[in-house]
Amino acid sequence: MENVNVKNVKVKENLKEVKFCAADPGNWNTKWINNRGVKGVCSSRISTDYEAYDEGFQRIEYNDQTIYFEIGEIQKELNKAEKGYIVPQILYALCKANPKEQIVETNLTLLLPIIQMQTKTKLINKFKNQEFTFKYNGEDRIISIKDVLILPEGYSTYFSLSSEDKKGSIVIVDIGSRTVNLAVLINGKIEKLNTITLGSYNFFQKIKNIENAKGQNFVEEDIKRLIDEGFIKVYQKQYIEFLNNILDSIKPLINLSTYKVIFTGGTSLMLQEYINQLKLPKFKIHEDALNSNVIGAMEASKITWGASA
Ligand SMILES: Nc1ncnc2c1ncn2[C@@H]1O[C@H](COP(=O)(O)OP(=O)(O)OP(=O)(O)O)[C@@H](O)[C@H]1O
Ligand SMILES: [Mg+2]
Repeated sequence: MENVNVKNVKVKENLKEVKFCAADPGNWNTKWINNRGVKGVCSSRISTDYEAYDEGFQRIEYNDQTIYFEIGEIQKELNKAEKGYIVPQILYALCKANPKEQIVETNLTLLLPIIQMQTKTKLINKFKNQEFTFKYNGEDRIISIKDVLILPEGYSTYFSLSSEDKKGSIVIVDIGSRTVNLAVLINGKIEKLNTITLGSYNFFQKIKNIENAKGQNFVEEDIKRLIDEGFIKVYQKQYIEFLNNILDSIKPLINLSTYKVIFTGGTSLMLQEYINQLKLPKFKIHEDALNSNVIGAMEASKITWGASA
């Protein structure tokens, strides 16, 4: 696309309809959805290392820095409001959600682990009523964010459920890469929300340690690909042990056997074969486990801002 210098354009005069987007800046994957229902997933890995052929990479140029996406490492800071690159990470997701528009005015819904909800003001202040001028893959962009809504991960999935699944006593178990978010609801009323800091990253760490003890020099970010491509063999018992670790950390908080359990999050997909063998009276894996939080966030955004905001 032709580069257009939009730096001096008055945003107000070029406004299109106010839209809204939801983004789930996961530790491993960033999920986004716009209010036309178009959704996507990208890796949360970033790199700020020099690249001689920068056009070869997905990138944001912001605040005199080029940030490359979907390469490098995940941001290790667990507190999402404190992640050093949370602003470019969200700008990147918003560009993905609005790929053709140089000027975007939008409301924004973001997700935070339940345990971090007290930091939500910090996140709101970074985005609410802020205008960002930057380059996305070499092209000028202005994103003007109006209102910001922050929802808890896990609970957000509730809004994605069918009316049948919403009924009765349910627990949503959102297994991500560094957190498990738990939401207990009784007929739609929140009974308990909690976060456990455990996820696929811890599993990959264990596998990495085993492989590196044999003389390799892997990092956690390598492990999924190496398993998928058959370079590393993971035994069933290792997946079962990891699932049991998760269930054991849930035990002191919730007795899963007394609820309808909805497993979600990308790691539920990694463990689906073993989750499906659990002896729980009522459970299912969400039909779109990777995206359920962001889908629910969009449903909640529609309730907050109206279907055609
Ligand atoms: N289709 C799939 N099959 C198997 N595993 C998958 C699939 N999709 C995602 N995963 C796994 O899901 C994990 C990431 O899950 P998810 O995207 O829910 O985490 P996250 O939201 O980034 O992390 P957090 O919630 O802790 O911030 C990764 O380990 C990835 O390997
Ligand atoms: Mg997540």
